[in-house]
Amino acid sequence: MAGMKKPLRGQVAIVTGGSRGIGLAIARALVAEGVNVAVTSRSGALSAARPPIEPGGPGSLEALRADVRSYDAVARAVSATAERFGGLDIVVNNAGVGIFADVTAMTPPQWAEVIETNLTGVYNMCHAALPLLRQRGGGYIINISSLAGANVVPGGTAYCASKAGLNAFSEVLNQEVRQDNIRVSYLMPGSVATGFSGDESRGAEWKIAADDVAGMVISLLTMDTRTLPSRVELRPSKPPKK
Ligand SMILES: NC(=O)c1ccc[n+]([C@@H]2O[C@H](COP(=O)([O-])OP(=O)(O)OC[C@H]3O[C@@H](n4cnc5c(N)ncnc54)[C@H](OP(=O)(O)O)[C@@H]3O)[C@@H](O)[C@H]2O)c1
Repeated sequence: MAGMKKPLRGQVAIVTGGSRGIGLAIARALVAEGVNVAVTSRSGALSAARPPIEPGGPGSLEALRADVRSYDAVARAVSATAERFGGLDIVVNNAGVGIFADVTAMTPPQWAEVIETNLTGVYNMCHAALPLLRQRGGGYIINISSLAGANVVPGGTAYCASKAGLNAFSEVLNQEVRQDNIRVSYLMPGSVATGFSGDESRGAEWKIAADDVAGMVISLLTMDTRTLPSRVELRPSKPPKK
């Protein structure tokens, strides 16, 4: 028997780290599908580098200031989103930072920033959001991980460990909540053309486009619920030859 599929239009989403890059592309794609979206970031501002989402479009967009490292800030953002739009259906844990340095060179604050943003931040959001998803009778949590969670690189101790931890977190969470109609997927992109980690889209033409990651998010959300793509790897088709 085919699973139940709720139409995306009118659903409510929160996207962490949605002020630019992949998160903003996901927010734009969701709004285009008629989803009401709150994006969070430390600044609370949307990037001026990308055109704003057209007012009066199919869905609405709110930008909130919330550092995912602060449980209280995340809980406030979740409550504000549910109050503004009447509930919560979709959570995209996208906020992330990349600081790359050998273990001996990496400072304790740098280590903490990566682990607390990329891993603890996802726990904070899931803990705050799950009761609201249960109130709706189900929902979808999509975690933006990285191929670096499986393919390690020197200097990537904190980043690779944070994303490997996020993969494990996502798999455990899926087992904990799947009987409650809450779906959990994690996406592992390779190099995406954003300003991530100070990389100003060098050689952007061979990289994955942020819009392609957003397209995969929409595909997951619209998949028949009898099937769950739990771990999705996205890689550039033709990276430069080494
Ligand atoms: N770009 C790639 O090649 C690539 C590849 C694989 C996976 N990823 C993953 O994709 C995700 C998004 O990356 P991106 O390339 O779009 O990066 P980006 O362009 O640097 O955007 C990162 C976003 O996260 C927000 N952010 C950072 N720290 C935050 C915090 N503590 N609390 C709330 N928001 C925070 C930033 O806004 P503020 O600075 O205003 O807080 C920004 O909106 C990350 O998880 C990254 O690990 C990226």
